[in-house]
Amino acid sequence: MGNIFAVTNQKGGVGKTTTTVNLAASLAESGKKVLLIDLDPQGNASTGCGVDKATIEISSYDVIMAKAKAADAIVRPEGATFDVMPTNSDLTAAEVELLDVNLREHRLRLALESSREKYDYIFIDCPPSLSMLTINALVAAKGVVIPIQCEYYALEGLSSLLKTIERIKQRTNPALEVTGLLRTMFDARNNLANQVSRQLITHFEKKVFHSIIPRNVRLAEAPSHGIPVINYDRSSRGSIAYMALASEFMRREK
Ligand SMILES: Nc1ncnc2c1ncn2[C@@H]1O[C@H](COP(=O)(O)OP(=O)(O)O)[C@@H](O)[C@H]1O
Ligand SMILES: [Mg+2]
Repeated sequence: MGNIFAVTNQKGGVGKTTTTVNLAASLAESGKKVLLIDLDPQGNASTGCGVDKATIEISSYDVIMAKAKAADAIVRPEGATFDVMPTNSDLTAAEVELLDVNLREHRLRLALESSREKYDYIFIDCPPSLSMLTINALVAAKGVVIPIQCEYYALEGLSSLLKTIERIKQRTNPALEVTGLLRTMFDARNNLANQVSRQLITHFEKKVFHSIIPRNVRLAEAPSHGIPVINYDRSSRGSIAYMALASEFMRREK
């Protein structure tokens, strides 16, 4: 119950937020109780789920700084099928403020203890860095979903992410595992994309999700309406791909 997954990759623009929002929505569609936690000060996941950032009263910043309880920060945006712990740029301050507190890497884990049992799955959308916020997500998590855009620099940085995951597993969170590497924004007509995809499978074998997320304009349009793609254009290739990913995810997590 309440297994926590960090969606992370220190590269920006690889599809972390798109994956967090749409995997959460697809699992909710399958009847699962889902919470999405926005841990990126940019707050793109919050907006993409229909939260107006200007109206946020209690955010993931307040939770991670122990100024508020997790339950008090969680909202259900109008029309949404899952819960959201939103954020805004206040969270930027947490990076610095966390340096001065005890158990700074454990803040999120401790804060979520009392809310976990209400959910089947909890997803954390991480910022594009291996910062204290991302460390908090990895210390709280059981699994890591790593979105990867199959292009030239895709594998660069992956090894430092995997080393960070290994170090956290050794020192603080023995349960932590990579749930899967996800190929995002995939264009099958692109030779380089196919080449990088083959490299991923050679190196990481079964850790690579079988499901592939294609480049699909509906996925890029849905956030401006504050809804997941499944509610925007259910029959789009992007929507179908995230539903397939949700099925594969549930099989892996059985
Ligand atoms: N599969 C996709 N097809 C088309 N556009 C996508 C896809 N995935 C993400 N995008 C777009 O690419 C940009 C970066 O994606 P995002 O999920 O915000 O990445 P990250 O959270 O890693 O920075 C966004 O504008 C998003 O709408
Ligand atoms: Mg993002």
